[in-house]
Amino acid sequence: MTASAATIAQPTHDAGAEPLIRVHGLGKHYGALEVFRNIDFDVGAREIVAIVGPSGCGKTTLLRCIDGLLPHDVGEILVGDQRVIDPIPGVAMVFQHFGLFPWKTVSENVAYGLRMAGASKADIARKVPIFVKMVGLAGFENAFPYQMSGGMQQRCGLARALAVEPSVLLMDEPFAAVDAQTREILQFELLRIWQERPTAMIFVTHSIEEAVLLGHRVIVLKGRPSGVHEIIEIDLPEPRNRDTLRLARFAELRERVWATLMREAREAEFVLER
Ligand SMILES: Nc1ncnc2c1ncn2[C@@H]1O[C@H](COP(=O)(O)OP(=O)(O)O)[C@@H](O)[C@H]1O
Ligand SMILES: [Mg+2]
Repeated sequence: MTASAATIAQPTHDAGAEPLIRVHGLGKHYGALEVFRNIDFDVGAREIVAIVGPSGCGKTTLLRCIDGLLPHDVGEILVGDQRVIDPIPGVAMVFQHFGLFPWKTVSENVAYGLRMAGASKADIARKVPIFVKMVGLAGFENAFPYQMSGGMQQRCGLARALAVEPSVLLMDEPFAAVDAQTREILQFELLRIWQERPTAMIFVTHSIEEAVLLGHRVIVLKGRPSGVHEIIEIDLPEPRNRDTLRLARFAELRERVWATLMREAREAEFVLER
């Protein structure tokens, strides 16, 4: 079979290359509550892996384990050849509720991440404006979080994470707290930034659409304790953009992920709060 150049997808990610993040047999309890067990997956150095799963299935817990902020009970996490037991350099996290210091300006919030990573004053002064501009916040360097919309605050959170030039970006439902239109804008901005500077990315979301749009693979977590139910290859053409949303293949993949999650979602809807 032949295909014209225009119809051949040009993946910019590194499917098949040696993974950068490896999660093996991971398990985690909070006291008597077993959150997840036997989690296995990996992420390439230039790959976006989206994780979807119902609320409470342990997505945030999993990211915090990978970040080294929380200890895991069993299994192991490797970033490159380093075992994660504490936070390691080169891994940055973007939080759902922005995680900004309210008393610091945009520039100071971005500088904070660099200072924590041990950057020199000169380096900080040089890099902060670059990353503030990259996320579209030029002109707002001296604004405080309370003066900005949710979307702008999350741009700042993203700039702080990007400024340390991480090799791994962990995103915990970063766009869940912003309105629908802003969310779409930020999704495409994130794709643009990722195409400029590809990293290994784990993008946690409860939006199936967002997972399929952003992910090169989508991991569906479910069950109690949760586990990897399915890993779905997202073979959409690159680079992803607004046109991606109109592809028949996009709709097919979205339905596939939905079908995987649906039974559990219906059951969860009818559980009584106790
Ligand atoms: N620090 C904690 N101590 C005890 N239980 C927790 C803690 N954090 C989360 N949990 C519980 O662990 C489960 C998974 O939480 P979480 O990782 O936040 O899920 P998700 O991000 O998928 O919504 C939930 O049942 C939650 O109530
Ligand atoms: Mg969460």
